[in-house]
Amino acid sequence: ARARIAIDPAFEVGRIDRRLFGSFVEHLGRCVYDGIYEPGHPRADADGFRSDVLELVRELGVTTIRYPGGNFVSGYRWEDGVGPRDQRPTRLDLAWHSTETNQFGLHEFAAWAEQAGVEPMMAINLGTRGVLEAIDLLEYSNVPSGSALADQRIANGATDPFKIKMWCLGNEMDGPWQLGHRNADDYGKLASQTAKGLRQLDPSVELVACGSSSRAMPTFGSWERTVLRHTYEDVDFISCHAYYEEGEDDLDSFLASGVDMDRFIESVVAVADSVGAELKNDKRINISFDEWNVWYLRRDAEKNTIRGIDNWPQAPRILEDVYNLTDAVVVGDLLISLLNHADRVKAASLAQLVNVIAPIMTEPGGDVWRQTTFFPFAETARRAVSSALRLRVDSDTHDTAKYGVVNSIDAAATHDDQSGVTSLFLVNRDHQAASTVDVDLAGLSGATVQDAFVLADSDRLAANTKDDQNRVALAELTSYKIDNGTLTVELPPLSWAALTLA
Ligand code: AHR
Repeated sequence: ARARIAIDPAFEVGRIDRRLFGSFVEHLGRCVYDGIYEPGHPRADADGFRSDVLELVRELGVTTIRYPGGNFVSGYRWEDGVGPRDQRPTRLDLAWHSTETNQFGLHEFAAWAEQAGVEPMMAINLGTRGVLEAIDLLEYSNVPSGSALADQRIANGATDPFKIKMWCLGNEMDGPWQLGHRNADDYGKLASQTAKGLRQLDPSVELVACGSSSRAMPTFGSWERTVLRHTYEDVDFISCHAYYEEGEDDLDSFLASGVDMDRFIESVVAVADSVGAELKNDKRINISFDEWNVWYLRRDAEKNTIRGIDNWPQAPRILEDVYNLTDAVVVGDLLISLLNHADRVKAASLAQLVNVIAPIMTEPGGDVWRQTTFFPFAETARRAVSSALRLRVDSDTHDTAKYGVVNSIDAAATHDDQSGVTSLFLVNRDHQAASTVDVDLAGLSGATVQDAFVLADSDRLAANTKDDQNRVALAELTSYKIDNGTLTVELPPLSWAALTLA
């Protein structure tokens, strides 16, 4: 395939909110226990945090972490996770049919987030709890001192408030699988009341209402409309969640997952803006894409069936997807989609961070390593600062079973005002042939390529595993030239690339 791209820093999509590069830690499987937290591991610090995991989290470049769920949060009592560890109750987690020991809770999370250098983003249980418990959690977290709950936090060892800014009003409340699932009207009213209560306590919080769990939900669109009619004045964001997997004999659609994400975002923006118009309200609701990734959900659903009234394992090995090269290219493409919508997507969370559908894997007592998906995320997070540029992309197309005709090549670019550096991200969705991309550099007077990396492999199923941890990595991209103001890049079949132009 062939594409022509024009870049000019004069044309912006929008400013990039660094919260676009967030991730997600849920009490699920081995994400927390044996993931970020493993007292007794040779690399654990005094708090039980694995320092080898922390190093990779920093290298990944994540900016925020959504916590503690996910489906888990809809059955969670936050109070269980504070106070002396030996007095914390052991509970059953109905979402993942597991035992929750509560040895890791709010204080541990706040301390870990500080060490990781990330901003915490807290999800509230609106499935089985209500306004009061939400306000209590905010008071405990953010009030400096002088109230019962703030003083309890201090007594529990945190003199300074946690100052948590971003709060999710429940999780996937549109999903019938959610504990306390309700219809859009009931959820919208509860979200509005909760938001008002939270703001009465701390007007500085930023609030996220639950949108749809996927674009394929039967209520998609009408859910957002109804929820926003109730909450338009009360919230700042509406959430989107999306997971993609390769279907049988349909690699082309999988490789075009970014097209689905584009349409998802554009549809939610359209609904949100139409509610604003209806309400004669000039405020803009932005998107928090607070769960996205590749997830082999169908395969996992068959494998991960923990059942039985007497069978509630602790930190079971569930949702431990091993990602291959193809998955990593799709993740790179999804990041391109997020960047191309940086005007309205102001926060996003790669779901999840460690062991559970994650870029980072660990063995208890053993190693930590990077999955294939680590690389496009880390490269994009590192490079994408300041503004996302509006590119003109003129690409050959091909047909897909799920999304119809799609561009064979897609791209995003960012421009750092301070350094003047432009980053270009490219994806070749053609898995059969190399593609050629001609980039018109007229808007970047005299720019040359400072560095260029590519993610490609002759085996599209190649993966990094416990026994072969470095099988897949980024390679230097050398197949490019600049001639007469045009950069020509040859992209291998099924590949993702990042270039620095300055
Ligand atoms: O990330 C795994 C699960 O996916 C989350 O718990 C839930 O919110 C979503 O369905």
